[in-house]
Amino acid sequence: MTQTVPELKFHDGNSIDQLGYGVWQVPDAEAEIVVGKAIDAGYRHIDTARIYGNEEGVGRAIAATDVPREELFITTKVWNSDQGYEKTLLAADASLERLGLEYVDLYLIHWLQPKRGTYVDTWKALIQLQKDGKAKSIGVCNFTIEALEELYAETGVRPVINQVETHPYFPQNELRAYEAEHGILHESWSPLGQGGDLLTDPVLVKIAEKHNASVAQVVIAWHLAVGNVVIPKSVTDSRIIENFASLNVTLDDEDLAAIATLDRGPEGRIAADPATADFA
Ligand SMILES: NC(=O)c1ccc[n+]([C@@H]2O[C@H](COP(=O)([O-])OP(=O)(O)OC[C@H]3O[C@@H](n4cnc5c(N)ncnc54)[C@H](OP(=O)(O)O)[C@@H]3O)[C@@H](O)[C@H]2O)c1
Repeated sequence: MTQTVPELKFHDGNSIDQLGYGVWQVPDAEAEIVVGKAIDAGYRHIDTARIYGNEEGVGRAIAATDVPREELFITTKVWNSDQGYEKTLLAADASLERLGLEYVDLYLIHWLQPKRGTYVDTWKALIQLQKDGKAKSIGVCNFTIEALEELYAETGVRPVINQVETHPYFPQNELRAYEAEHGILHESWSPLGQGGDLLTDPVLVKIAEKHNASVAQVVIAWHLAVGNVVIPKSVTDSRIIENFASLNVTLDDEDLAAIATLDRGPEGRIAADPATADFA
């Protein structure tokens, strides 16, 4: 049983572990403990955000581990109310301070916020942050094809990755095809459907039985098989380990074809639609 995490290459030359660990809704005090457990389980890629309120806890886990900084991959994100050129530069410094880091591996715009209309200026700030060495790589979350086109038209720089709600009920096929064509990696948030109905879906239960795996492992194995970067969240010791062990589950063509039938179209979306979501 090997548990080597596959690496995917960004168009800027850097790489990302395809399987990471997400910490949305993890309280700051708990973040140090669970991130430490995730690192012990084998994760090296951690996904946080300013708005999660746990950058300090993540930073304490980074400070406490024996794993060298250069072997870790840390992502954080600029929150909506910090969008705009100058505010984003300040927000990045504040995130680095809370994390106790000189640089993050990946800095992302958290939401498009179309009505706010500041995402191009925010993107220009991220380009500057990369030049300054404060972010090794830069990308976005919750961007539409149109907005990805606009960033490129305005700046000539494409994000390395787009982190978006993605799971078998909402597989994002059109967006993924566009990104693949333009060298942008696809990263799945809420990859387990936030632990809801997806994890008792009969089609997935059957595939899980066939592989002697859990449904969550089958879902993570599906993200890996179709080329998504995937960042499942769990604060449960056994699930942190279980999810990492998804690397040992290899789905066959028949499994992938069965999972492709689960696409529910727009009805499959759990959270807000980035094309219209505007919140503080
Ligand atoms: N960019 C964005 O806008 C955005 C939005 C949402 C999320 N994200 C990122 O994506 C990460 C993951 O998404 P998410 O936290 O929304 O949801 P998720 O990873 O799809 O699901 C997490 C839920 O599933 C449960 N779970 C985890 N492993 C399980 C297993 N093996 N068996 C059964 N249940 C399991 C967890 O419970 P326990 O924790 O109780 O074990 C938790 O309730 C976030 O943490 C965050 O880093 C980004």
